[in-house]
Amino acid sequence: MTAPRKPSRVFDRNREWDGLVRFATSTSPDVRLGIVSGRRRQGKTYLLDALVEVLGGFFFTATEATEMEALERFGRAVAKYAGGGRYAFKDWDEALERLFAVVGNGLVVIDEFPYLCKATPSLPSLLQRALDPRGYARQAGSRLLLCGSAMSVMGGLLSGNAPLRGRASLELVVKPLGYRESGSFWGIDDPRLAVLVHSIVGGTPAYRREFVAGDAPDSLADFDSWVLRTVLNPQVPLFREARYLLAEETEIRDVALYHAVLGAIASGNATRGGIASAIGRNSTDMAHPLSVLEDAQLIVRETDPFNKGKPVYRIAEPLIVFYEAIMRRHWTPLERGNQEAAWRNSQATFLSQVVGPHFEGICRDWAMSAEPHVFGELPGQVAAATVKDPQRKTQIQVDVAVLAPEEPGRPRRILSLGEVKWDRTMALGHLDRLQRARDLLSVKGYDTSTTVLTCYSGAGFDKHLRTSDQALLIDLNALYSVAK
Ligand SMILES: Nc1ncnc2c1ncn2[C@@H]1O[C@H](COP(=O)(O)OP(=O)(O)O)[C@@H](O)[C@H]1O
Ligand SMILES: [Mg+2]
Repeated sequence: MTAPRKPSRVFDRNREWDGLVRFATSTSPDVRLGIVSGRRRQGKTYLLDALVEVLGGFFFTATEATEMEALERFGRAVAKYAGGGRYAFKDWDEALERLFAVVGNGLVVIDEFPYLCKATPSLPSLLQRALDPRGYARQAGSRLLLCGSAMSVMGGLLSGNAPLRGRASLELVVKPLGYRESGSFWGIDDPRLAVLVHSIVGGTPAYRREFVAGDAPDSLADFDSWVLRTVLNPQVPLFREARYLLAEETEIRDVALYHAVLGAIASGNATRGGIASAIGRNSTDMAHPLSVLEDAQLIVRETDPFNKGKPVYRIAEPLIVFYEAIMRRHWTPLERGNQEAAWRNSQATFLSQVVGPHFEGICRDWAMSAEPHVFGELPGQVAAATVKDPQRKTQIQVDVAVLAPEEPGRPRRILSLGEVKWDRTMALGHLDRLQRARDLLSVKGYDTSTTVLTCYSGAGFDKHLRTSDQALLIDLNALYSVAK
């Protein structure tokens, strides 16, 4: 049998598609429940819709509703699937029994599942019973996919002693597209333009479609005009999106505090203490907002491999960085239609707080996906790091530290130390700093015998560096051309 083909309208997502098809077409009695999660607008519904189109199945999208309303809508949907009639379910137990009887050994997709749980908190236990060996779903041979964006709910479904824990054989997290895929998705060939666009809209597929009505910049020369036409244009949905991303998180009540935290991170404060002092609060006050933002996957916590125990925070969604660094500071002129002036006055900030740090992140992503021959083996960890230089009483920032996986009883091997510059031609001075960092780390007991010193630049390398053969040089074409 040939595997069901992914509809051509679905860009990329081959791994996700394969996982879903394998789940949906499995004949094993143990394959019953799949969980699909991920932040809003990443394409979960789009994928599941394509899956049901190809394989058939029952698809229900929950909405914010009371239990009664939800049961009524569900009854209509099941009746329609069954080919007519009317079902008035008195409770979810009855609804599920009928559903699985009607669907038989087919596929059931429930999208926006967290809405149903909110109205009916016992629903996961009811499903657990249905999925048990003597339950309706198991008897019928149905397979059930639960999908949702509320990360607090979806994550909780399988954790701790939650009823559905241990029952899912597929846990699919639909993430933003990678930077290279985003470039192709936006139809951009010029890597410089691809970085600039990605630094604003990241890899969220919806931002290419509904949110800007398909408007992509057609050249580097069109970039400023594109920014003015789209993200800075109050008439385009993308304009308000960063605010909605926060407003949609139900855990977030004090929105002003959260914007202050994100604003502090966007302007370069990465540690808990740094964020706290930037907004004039105590470090301990930060614990709650930071963990809420982390659960919502709006920020990520990373550890510096050379200074463990001191996590740094980064904003996971480029659009939020752009909003905090550029838009929030100019909100009134922007809303009043004065985008040209706002954008002109933001050029330095865009470079230093948006593109610069974003480009470092792209270089780390590249390093993480590097083929084994690039650094001698597959990276175990890639992170930004700091190396203390006690003699010179300073610190060296390493933008891309690549480490081999940890091996007990052996010194940690450093595969590469890298420096990133978006808008400056790199020279031997940059290489000197990396050499110094390598020597200091070697004194500290790291294995640096095979460390590759890497310079990543968006603006090229001077002649001395090009001829030095001491460094691996990675330019924009290299970042975009490596095979997946
Ligand atoms: N793989 C994809 N290929 C093409 N367009 C996509 C893809 N994924 C998402 N999109 C676009 O993004 C929009 C939002 O996706 P959606 O499935 O509604 O996100 P989610 O359910 O994760 O919130 C879709 O309507 C579609 O225009
Ligand atoms: Mg959806």
